[in-house]
Order: sequence, then structure tokens, then C-alpha cells
Amino acid sequence: IIIGIIFVVAAYLIGNLNFAYILVKFLKNEDVRNYGSGNAGTTNVLRVMGKNVAIPVFVLDALKGCLVIVVGRYALNLTEIFLVLGGVAVVAGHNWPAFLQFRGGKGTATSLGVFLTYDWQIAIIAIMIGLIILGIWKMVSLTSMVGMTMLPIFALLFSRTITEVVFAFVLCLFSLFQHRKNIGRIIQGKESKLGQKVKMKN
Ligand code: G3P
Repeated sequence: IIIGIIFVVAAYLIGNLNFAYILVKFLKNEDVRNYGSGNAGTTNVLRVMGKNVAIPVFVLDALKGCLVIVVGRYALNLTEIFLVLGGVAVVAGHNWPAFLQFRGGKGTATSLGVFLTYDWQIAIIAIMIGLIILGIWKMVSLTSMVGMTMLPIFALLFSRTITEVVFAFVLCLFSLFQHRKNIGRIIQGKESKLGQKVKMKN
């Protein structure tokens, strides 16, 4: 139990390592949250810095999610409950980082890393459906939300454990909540499309 609790707290702290914030701070000495959508995530880094920075942000934010599940499952042999709590904690740490005034990202990459490691079959289905949505509407926010919504739906359809269904549902709710402004923009037809750039000073 003690190990489990330490694991969950460590997962939250690992989530605080927001690579959109870290890489833009390191490369430009700017806070990415002052630009574009104001989000500290892959899409906004793509908008303000381009893909050479956005891709590493995505990979690193996803890897921290993978890391938590891999360590919890294989190194610490934790029960499913603690694994799930760790998964929720790393995404919560990314979305609401104590070290960044609780303003982080929207959790798509990190949730993907978590779920790819936790239950890759469902994650792959969510990715494929997301890619179709991205191809049609070219909005990353919509892609993220639809992909995240597929996790609990397919966890249910595939008769996964109730713990896993709840886990997927919580990650999905986190995502929808973090995308609330995007939802407003999508309804108003003002959401930015993939490929739109935003200038950064200097
Ligand atoms: O996961 C983040 C993405 O879905 C939306 O980011 O910057 O367009 O609000 P952004």
C-alpha cells in the first residue's frame, strides 16, 4: 500500500514535467502558454514553433504516460487499482501541474501513452478513429476528444474490467473538461485547423 501511494504521488509529479512548456522555455525562453491557444501541448507548440519541436513534445509527453504504467506493472507489480490511480495521476499532473500554476495541457498525448501501455488494442482503435476524424475535419481538438471518447466505449464493448472502464471514462472526462473552450470554438466555427501558424516574438 505504501509503495502504491508513493507510486501515485510520483506519477503526479512526473505528469508535472510538461514538455511543451519545458522545450519552448529552453529553446526560446518564452512561456508557450502566452501564445496561440494558450495551451501547453503538442498542437500549440506546432502552431508556434513547428513540427521539429512539436513531435518531441508529443513523444515525451506520451512516454511519461508509458513510463508510469510500465514501472507500476512490471517493476513494482502493483494491483490494477494502483496502476489506474497512477495513470489518472500522471494525466492530472500534466493537465493541472502544481509546479506551473495548475495550467498545463489537455492530456491527449499523455493519456495515449498511458492507454497504449495499459491496453494497446483499445488505444490503437482510438488512434485509428481519431486519424479518420483528423483527416476529415483537420481539427486536433476534435480528434483528441473523439479519440478519448472511444476509450471508455471500446473498454465497455470489449467487456474489460469495470476498473478499466471507469479509468477510461475518467481520462475521457478530463479531456472533455480541458477542451471546454475548444468545444465553444468548434460550435461557433472558430476552431483553428491543423497547419495554422502563430508568430512568436523574436
Ligand atoms: O490535445 C490538445 C489539442 O486537442 C488542442 O490543442 O492548442 O488547439 O487547444 P489546442
